[in-house]
Amino acid sequence: MEKILQIKSQALKQIEKTKNLKELESLRIKVLGIKGKINQLFKKLAELKKEEKIKFGQLINETKKAIEQAIKNQESKIKNQAETKKEFFDVTLPGIKPSLGHINPVTQIVWELTEAFEQMGYQIMEGSEIETDYYNFQMLNIPLHHPARDLQDTFWINDKLLPRTHTSAMQVRVMSKLKPPFKVAVPGWVYRCEREDATHASVFHHYEGFAVGKNISFANLKATLYTLMQKILGYETKLKFRASYFPYVEPCAEISASCPHCKGKGCAGCGGSGWLEILGAGMIHPVVLKNVNIDPDKFSGFAFCPGPTRLAMIKYRIDDIRLFTNGDLRFLNQF
Ligand code: DAH
Repeated sequence: MEKILQIKSQALKQIEKTKNLKELESLRIKVLGIKGKINQLFKKLAELKKEEKIKFGQLINETKKAIEQAIKNQESKIKNQAETKKEFFDVTLPGIKPSLGHINPVTQIVWELTEAFEQMGYQIMEGSEIETDYYNFQMLNIPLHHPARDLQDTFWINDKLLPRTHTSAMQVRVMSKLKPPFKVAVPGWVYRCEREDATHASVFHHYEGFAVGKNISFANLKATLYTLMQKILGYETKLKFRASYFPYVEPCAEISASCPHCKGKGCAGCGGSGWLEILGAGMIHPVVLKNVNIDPDKFSGFAFCPGPTRLAMIKYRIDDIRLFTNGDLRFLNQF
């Protein structure tokens, strides 16, 4: 009797001390297994008299059940502990920042311009990046061998095809399809055979705008440019128009904006002058209108082309144009 009680209390204590399922299992084998302590007690029953057999048999059975129950309880306790260990999480830890992509600053300017164009009722159109000499030059009043071709260093694919040097090519493509009045804006990449440095890239962005209708004047062009540029560079922006030359517009202007950082006073960003060149514009040349079968005696129009790459450099004070396209995350993460 004493032996049975001793085995029981010892087993219960040991069970409680087990720390993992492996320990518990080996203890179970030691106590309840075929060669375990309980089975040995059962074997001893054979030596006893009949009434004692019944009495002790019952006791051993109860002990066995108690030990089995204790093992079961301990097993779920261990499992629960493991579970809570896994689930524990420290609410005081700083959060994990999800890594988000960034919109390239040039794309941001393209989007802002698109919004401004749409608000003014412009249709947005895109064209092919590979152009023909015909649309990129000839239709724009730049015939073969015209010296104005030297203004733009061109990557030639063959003597007829080129990656477009400007989005102005789309002006003549679109104008030969649409009937005036119309207002159209064309964003897109353009290509120049440039020696790359901090201010020159061989791939950059243009955003061509043009409008054709009756009685369209230079004053309309001026108002349009003020609306656009004040939206991008700030409402205090002033514009300066100087005579310039592009064969497809007459009169033609090179336009500068007051520096958005020093408000025209002069700072390092604008080379001390207070002004930054931002775009070329003018009234569409009568020859170009004739080329697209629009009668220059009935209709007039203006065209202009802000460069989103240049505007992004000005707006965000970026002094190296190569940063936009070299994929450096230290740069892009700032936007
Ligand atoms: N296409 C010119 C360039 O490549 C920019 C330009 C000047 C566009 C005058 C125009 C314009 O529409 O009227 O630099």
